[in-house]
Amino acid sequence: MIVGVGIDVVDVARFSRQLERVPGLVERLFTSDEQGLPPASMAARFAAKEAVAKALGAPVGLRWTDVTVRRLEGGRPVLEVSGTVAARAAELGVDSFHLSLSHDAGIASAVVVAERADPAPAPGLDPGLDPGAA
Ligand SMILES: CC(C)(COP(=O)(O)OP(=O)(O)OC[C@H]1O[C@@H](n2cnc3c(N)ncnc32)[C@H](O)[C@@H]1OP(=O)(O)O)[C@@H](O)C(=O)NCCC(=O)NCCS
Repeated sequence: MIVGVGIDVVDVARFSRQLERVPGLVERLFTSDEQGLPPASMAARFAAKEAVAKALGAPVGLRWTDVTVRRLEGGRPVLEVSGTVAARAAELGVDSFHLSLSHDAGIASAVVVAERADPAPAPGLDPGLDPGAA
C-alpha cells in the first residue's frame, strides 16, 4: 500500500549558483556517487531528496546524505536510504521507494512514492473475508 507521495521542483540555474557560492554545500547535500553530475541531474537529485522528505511527512532531523540516487543500467534512477531516512521509513513501515526524475526548460523535478508491503492476513482468517485473497 502507498504510505506517502512527494514531489519537488528546482530551478537548475539558481540551484547551481548556490552550490558554487556556499562552501561545503555539495558535500552536505550529496553523496560521493552523486557529486560531479551535470547541473540538471544534480538539481533533480536534490528534488528527489526533498520529495523523499515529503513522502515521509518531512519530519525534522533527516540528513540529505542519507538519501542517494543511483542509476541502474539503462538509466533508471533508484533511491537508496540509510541512517535518519531509513529510520523514519521503518517507523512508517515503508519498505520500498519509487522515483521518477525529469529536467527541461531550466527546471528539474522529482516524484517519489513510498510503499509498504501489504500485511499478511491474520492467521485463521477466512479467505472469503480477505480482500487480498484470490
Ligand atoms: C516542508 C518542506 C518539505 C516544504 O518544502 P519547500 O521546498 O520549502 O516548499 P515546496 O514549495 O516544495 O512545497 C510546499 C508544499 O509542501 C507541502 N508540505 C508542507 N509540509 C509538509 C510535510 N510535513 N509533509 C509533506 N508535505 C508537506 C505543502 O503542501 C506545501 O504546499 P502549501 O504550503 O501550498 O500547502 C521543507 O521545508 C522541508 O522540510 N524539507 C525537508 C528538508 C529535509 O528533511 N531534508 C533532508 C531530506 S533527505
